[in-house]
Amino acid sequence: MNQERTLIIIKPDALSKKVGGRIISAFEENNLRLVGAKFIHLGREQVEQFYAEHRGKEFYEPLVQFMTSNPCLAMAWEGPDAIKRAREVIGATDPAQAKEGTVRRNYATDNRHNAVHGSDSVKSAEREIAFFFTAAEIFDWEDKIYKK
Ligand code: CMP
Repeated sequence: MNQERTLIIIKPDALSKKVGGRIISAFEENNLRLVGAKFIHLGREQVEQFYAEHRGKEFYEPLVQFMTSNPCLAMAWEGPDAIKRAREVIGATDPAQAKEGTVRRNYATDNRHNAVHGSDSVKSAEREIAFFFTAAEIFDWEDKIYKK
C-alpha cells in the first residue's frame, strides 16, 4: 500500500448542518490521519481556480455560488492508499447513488450540496494540498516536524 496524502474539503452545507465532527470521525475511523486543517471562506477567484477543470459545465456557476456561500474546512489527510480510501469513505458525487454508510449518503443533500470534496488522483492531491497549505502547515507525525 502506498502512503499517500489527500485533500478533503468539508463543504458549507455540512458545516452549516453541524456534521463536520462526524465527517472527521469517519476519516479517522478509516485509518486516515489528519496532517493539516484550515477554516476558510473561499472567494470567487479561489473557487474558480480550484475547480478550473469544471469551467463551462452546466453545474459550474451554481457550484461557485455554493462554495463561496459560507466557510469550508480544508484538510490534508494521510494514510495507506489515502486517496482511494477517502473516496470510499465519501461515496458517489450524487448522494442518491452513494453506498449506505458513506459520508455523502449520510450527510449530503444532492450532487451540488454534497458535503465533501476529496482528491481523485495523486496529481490532483498534490495540486489541491498545495492550493490550501504551505509545506510548513502540514505536520509530519513520524518526524514530529513541520517541513520548512
Ligand atoms: P466535488 O467532488 O467537489 O467535485 C466537483 C463538484 O462539482 C462536485 O463535487 C459537486 O459538488 C459538483 N458537481 C459535479 N457534478 C454535478 C452535477 N451533475 N450537478 C451539480 N453539481 C455537480
